[in-house]
Amino acid sequence: MRRVMVAGNWKMHGSFAGNRQLVEEISAGLSADAAVDVAVFVPAPYLAATVELTANSAIAVGAQDVSVHEQGAFTGETSGAMITDCGATMTLVGHSERRTLHGESSEAVARKAEAALGCGLTPVVCIGETLEQREAGTTEAVVAEQIDAVIDQLGIAGLARCVLAYEPVWAIGTGVTASPQQAQDVHAFIRSKIAAVDATIGGQLRILYGGSVKGSNASELFAMADIDGGLIGGASLSAENFLPICRAGEQA
Ligand code: 13P
Repeated sequence: MRRVMVAGNWKMHGSFAGNRQLVEEISAGLSADAAVDVAVFVPAPYLAATVELTANSAIAVGAQDVSVHEQGAFTGETSGAMITDCGATMTLVGHSERRTLHGESSEAVARKAEAALGCGLTPVVCIGETLEQREAGTTEAVVAEQIDAVIDQLGIAGLARCVLAYEPVWAIGTGVTASPQQAQDVHAFIRSKIAAVDATIGGQLRILYGGSVKGSNASELFAMADIDGGLIGGASLSAENFLPICRAGEQA
């Protein structure tokens, strides 16, 4: 049976005291041998402390972005080595908020994924179309371009070391979730596209869905054949909302 991943993206939320309470509540609600992989992607200032808070739990900790540079005069950037030094093991790259608000191109995102892998971090590469692109019928072309940039940069073997997160931009933070079938259709397209290059990698690559996932819709989404888990924004900010999604992941 496939193992689902439930990942919380805290975005720019949190405080030392609030994070402690949140992590303690999530840990208390998850059995040590829970049959689900749980991760939290936290703001850079909280990485080290969150790693400490999760030390006795199965919760993995990741950053929300990584620099393409190793070190140097890049004010405001965080290198992969620094993220590793904090004890984190993963990082998001190419979240739509970074692609949109910071103008990150697919090529820049692919270079970030490469930088992460080079530091031993697992990159979670976020892809997805805007509402305008969906309405124009270009969803598959958009995600194909985003994936091709990663394959061009890392090769298919490099992509195999990543996790993909399909997050339709129109479903992020809007309360509008893609229907399980809409999400499954894009996930199946992504998987078949990768399988056309390497059938084994296509079959094994973990593809998460993100965009208004909640306790009430997680089970239906995770039941779809090509949806291997979720990347959760708003509902990851309280244990009350996050734990039911983890439980749906356990039962998937
Ligand atoms: P929401 O779950 O708040 O829609 O956010 C999704 C997301 O962007 C996770 O990275």
